[in-house]
Amino acid sequence: TKNFQIAIDGPASAGKSTIAKILATNLKYVYVDTGAMYRAITLAASRAGLSYEAEEEIIALLPKTVIRFEPGTPGQRVFLNDDEVTEVIRSTEVTNNVSLVSSYAAVREDLVSRQRNIANSQNVIMDGRDIGTTVLPNAQVKIFLVASVSERAQRRYKENLTKGMTTSLADLEKDISVRDYKDSHREISPLVQAKDAILVDTTGQSIEEVVSKITEIIKNNQ
Ligand code: C5P
Repeated sequence: TKNFQIAIDGPASAGKSTIAKILATNLKYVYVDTGAMYRAITLAASRAGLSYEAEEEIIALLPKTVIRFEPGTPGQRVFLNDDEVTEVIRSTEVTNNVSLVSSYAAVREDLVSRQRNIANSQNVIMDGRDIGTTVLPNAQVKIFLVASVSERAQRRYKENLTKGMTTSLADLEKDISVRDYKDSHREISPLVQAKDAILVDTTGQSIEEVVSKITEIIKNNQ
């Protein structure tokens, strides 16, 4: 590939999107949040009045489901068929059902092809679960970002407080562990470190430290 692709994978709340957004700004690359795409489909199912178990009906929604990103401050705005869904795709309802919807083969096929199209013609930094293993196997840089469950729950807790949400630390730890388990044990493209990915453990590290470490890795691969 002539354009540059950076893949960042890892478990829930490891800081992938925070780090990827900063790197994308610094490098002037396009940031692609693939989790937001799975979340948008999950929301589309709910808005269509479907049960999350209704695999066939959810698959039938895919051709009429447009997911679009727009630059915004802070971060990125997400649109589902022209409705802004930036906030609502982060709701507990979507978060607790997205792993089931994203386990459906036809859902993955459809979104993987959308993701590859975006990464085809421009420099991208893409985050998710299967970017280095499946979506962009030839990415020049692959990072597998991890942190301890308790630190990830604490980060989420602080983030939630700023939004006025007060889920207990214990519940957050449980939700994160359950989602990690489902994402790592599904049949198709489970969450796993690619053989050629570099493991970066962010436990006890500041955002600045992680950004500078990964920036160094990117420089060494350019
Ligand atoms: O990254 P985020 O936590 O927003 O992802 C939400 C969910 O979407 C994940 O828990 C996973 O079930 C699914 N996902 C996926 N493959 C990706 C990105 C996300 O299956 N590449």
